[in-house]
Amino acid sequence: MRKIALLTSGGDSPGMNAAIRSVVRGCLSYGIEPYVVYDGYKGLVEDRIEKVSRRFVSETINRGGTIIGTARYLDFKKSEVQDIAVNNLKKRDIDSLVVIGGDGSFRGTLDLERKGIKCIGIAGTIDNDINTAGYTLGFDTALNTIVDCLDKIRDTSSSHHRCSIVEVMGRYCGDLALFSGLASGADIIITGAKKYDLNKIYDEILEMKNEGRRHVLVVISENVLDIEEFKKNIEEKTGFETRASVLGQIQRGGKPSAMDRVNGSLIGFEAVRSLKDNKHNVVLYLLGKKVVGKDLQESINTSNFDDDYMYEAAKKVG
Ligand code: ADP
Ligand code: F6P
Ligand code: MG
Repeated sequence: MRKIALLTSGGDSPGMNAAIRSVVRGCLSYGIEPYVVYDGYKGLVEDRIEKVSRRFVSETINRGGTIIGTARYLDFKKSEVQDIAVNNLKKRDIDSLVVIGGDGSFRGTLDLERKGIKCIGIAGTIDNDINTAGYTLGFDTALNTIVDCLDKIRDTSSSHHRCSIVEVMGRYCGDLALFSGLASGADIIITGAKKYDLNKIYDEILEMKNEGRRHVLVVISENVLDIEEFKKNIEEKTGFETRASVLGQIQRGGKPSAMDRVNGSLIGFEAVRSLKDNKHNVVLYLLGKKVVGKDLQESINTSNFDDDYMYEAAKKVG
């Protein structure tokens, strides 16, 4: 009987459980034995691998996080550590692995593929930093959480005639900032993907203040600038009272949106179908209503962060 193992790795994201559920139940529907690995590559190396039943994933489709745990385990970059993982799979006659994670996780997946394990990647990260034409699992839920927070910040910002700057996650990808900024009518969006001129931004904020704006909303990607210092400079240069918020971990939790559940369910099922047909070394993603694949290496090597059109639209209507 064929056996497929499954793990989640890197930062968790809402929708991972829908994908886990779908892989497990997809396996069972084809007479394949499903195995889960606890806590990502760490559990793979520590041999924490368990055969699971249909019931294991009951009542999980609506839960955030990942029921099998995840880890950031940097030792997995070492070839000799990866060999232990390969051995732990092979001694159970498991030849296939589904990895749900982000760009970092897929680097490990590529190494396992090269060591003879048939791998499929499911892009599960709120960051949307995998280069496919689809959205990563968790991006939609995190985006909605951020937009909800921005709406709330806008209320109080407007009552108090303030400028609000809000830092959102995304690692080095600006999509969460760009999409949430557009969806919230942000006045200014700053990400690492687009050149910006701070002096010009101060001038723009001053202009908005002089126009009599009740509030100004600035959305910034993490890892771009020091927002406490940015806040101080805005107040000094424009005289606009400013508050800075870092949204933090709240963005990664919570019930997955319907789209993330659909995304996870369809991709999880297709991962099993592909492996059954001996197709691997790809990242699967949803394009319209169809699940399609992209070469694993390509999906992490190139970037699709150039979104001039969206930046322009956000600027014009913000
Ligand atoms: P994400 O997958 O969400 O981008 P990380 O970058 O934290 O998250 O990566 C998750 C895990 O993937 C790491 O803790 C490590 O175990 C593994 N990993 C990351 N980079 C590599 C690499 N270059 N080679 C092998 N494994 C890696
Ligand atoms: O990759 C997901 C992510 O939430 C990034 O957006 C962020 O940079 C990072 O993980 C934060 O990780 P943690 O707080 O778990 O260390
Ligand atoms: Mg990542």
